Amino acid sequence: MPVVVSMLNSYSGWAAAMAGFTLNNDLLIIAGALVGSSGAYLSYIMCKGMNRSFISVILGGFGSDTSGASSQSYEHGAHVETTAQHVAELLMDAKKVVITPGFGMAVAQAQFPVADLTRKLSDHGVDVKFGIHPVAGRMPGHMNVLLAEAKVPYDKVFELDEINDDFADVDIVLVIGANDTVNPSAETDPGSPIAGMPVLRVWEAKKVIVFKRSMGNAGYSGVENPLFYNENTRMLLGDAKKSVDDILTYI
Ligand code: TAP
Repeated sequence: MPVVVSMLNSYSGWAAAMAGFTLNNDLLIIAGALVGSSGAYLSYIMCKGMNRSFISVILGGFGSDTSGASSQSYEHGAHVETTAQHVAELLMDAKKVVITPGFGMAVAQAQFPVADLTRKLSDHGVDVKFGIHPVAGRMPGHMNVLLAEAKVPYDKVFELDEINDDFADVDIVLVIGANDTVNPSAETDPGSPIAGMPVLRVWEAKKVIVFKRSMGNAGYSGVENPLFYNENTRMLLGDAKKSVDDILTYI
């Protein structure tokens, strides 16, 4: 839907530019062209982030599959839960930590305790970075805006392409309210609705902690996420803000 809105916004700009030609009004031509081209570019970035064409976004059923199942059914084991205290201990022993936030961090408004956690860990000598997927959240730059609001230093924030080859070297990844953007089935299941979408390869890290409220809900695409059942994944269930606040009490 945001892509469609952005495309309609772009069309309104081009329509204004056309009206400018008809009325011989230079200001209308320039303003219309600016709105039209920026809307078109925004739509292009969003489609690229989802590895989808304009046409398939408008006509396709991405997000309409609410069954929560991927096209490839697979057997997964049970998920393993963890506690805030255990996560705090792991973080204090870690050398490299990457945080990959998603829509859930925005819903929980967890960016402020996340920024506090980053500061405390950095003071303790832990190398903390953020890995930002281009379509994490619900609008372009959603996570960057939240992190900037919480005063996370810019030099700690990395785009997908900049950080994706580093995960094998990372001790702990904190997946805070992200789901589709860290779903390995985009790479492993060619029949998945998100097949081919670039994803953050968090599963390559030594340990992955996933923050979400329950095991029942899928992400925006409605696709099941095998990451949650990996041997090196632990689930910290609950509201992300409360979970991070709880971790902070042990650090
Ligand atoms: P999603 O795949 O939407 O997953 C959000 C996760 O946050 C879910 O696991 C959800 O699980 C969890 N969550 C929700 N509220 C929470 C809370 N209060 N505390 C803790 N966890 C919470 O997020 P994503 O990885 O950011 O991916 C974004 C998706 O949106 C992509 O599919 C993308 O294509 C789509 N999209 C993005 C955009 C742009 S431009 N950013 C535009 C349109 C669509 P629970 O419900 O169990 O907590």
